[in-house]
Amino acid sequence: MTPVEIGPHRLFLGDAYRIRPTLGWQDADVMDPPYAFNNAGGGAFRKTREGANRIVEEGLDRGFDRSIINPAWSGAVVVFCHQDQLGDLIPEIAEDDRGDADALIVADMFAHLRPRFHRATLCVWTKPNPSPMANKNYLADMEPYIHAWNRGWHPQGEHHDKHRWTHTGTVRTAAFDHPTVKPDALMNKILRNVAGETVCDPFMGTGSTGVAAIRAGKVFTGIEHNPAHFETAVRRITAAWEERCAA
Ligand SMILES: C[S@@+](CC[C@H](N)C(=O)[O-])C[C@H]1O[C@@H](n2cnc3c(N)ncnc32)[C@H](O)[C@@H]1O
Repeated sequence: MTPVEIGPHRLFLGDAYRIRPTLGWQDADVMDPPYAFNNAGGGAFRKTREGANRIVEEGLDRGFDRSIINPAWSGAVVVFCHQDQLGDLIPEIAEDDRGDADALIVADMFAHLRPRFHRATLCVWTKPNPSPMANKNYLADMEPYIHAWNRGWHPQGEHHDKHRWTHTGTVRTAAFDHPTVKPDALMNKILRNVAGETVCDPFMGTGSTGVAAIRAGKVFTGIEHNPAHFETAVRRITAAWEERCAA
């Protein structure tokens, strides 16, 4: 498969599970994979939540295969999970409450990462403008991600980069015609935290990880199977690279 090359950066249009194993070592894998969660409900607020139906339409509520997280391929991984309550970290409560595996996703992800990496930390993106849908739960105003690393690939950055939280607004679906774009401030912080020079995002969407990786001076490789989102990523990453070259 021939990638689109933008300076030293490579973007692959295709399937992550087929392409990622062929790429070999990357210092970090930073990924925002399809979550597994129940996106039904919302009552009167449903109509105001523009991204909710798109998430279902694009199959971004059906989860992903964790074989894509492989400590033989990278020194560290950052994986976003579903923004469910942190109470879900207590498996018994979540099981009683929801009766399905979705509510266990954060605990599950920890269980997957801990034996494979030296350390793993739960971090969180808090949102001042969450969706108004509470679905008989709290608002979805925090979204967890786990940063796991092996020895030598621990979190980097200045003192204030070492916070486990980032407080910044969401990106509207209309901005890039994608329902789950991660904001620049969040991705810039994460890319300051990951060690090393090379970064792969196997579920790159519109290329938010790539834009932040270029701004952090790293070499980026991305994979996306949706041609429309891939085109958006090419456009955004080309602009980020040109900006960096001009600086
Ligand atoms: C949660 S979104 C990532 C959004 C991204 N963080 C951004 O800011 O634009 C996950 C992306 O993975 C893509 N995807 C899902 N399964 C894939 C697969 N098997 N191979 C490649 N891409 C996949 C989807 O099309 C979607 O754009």
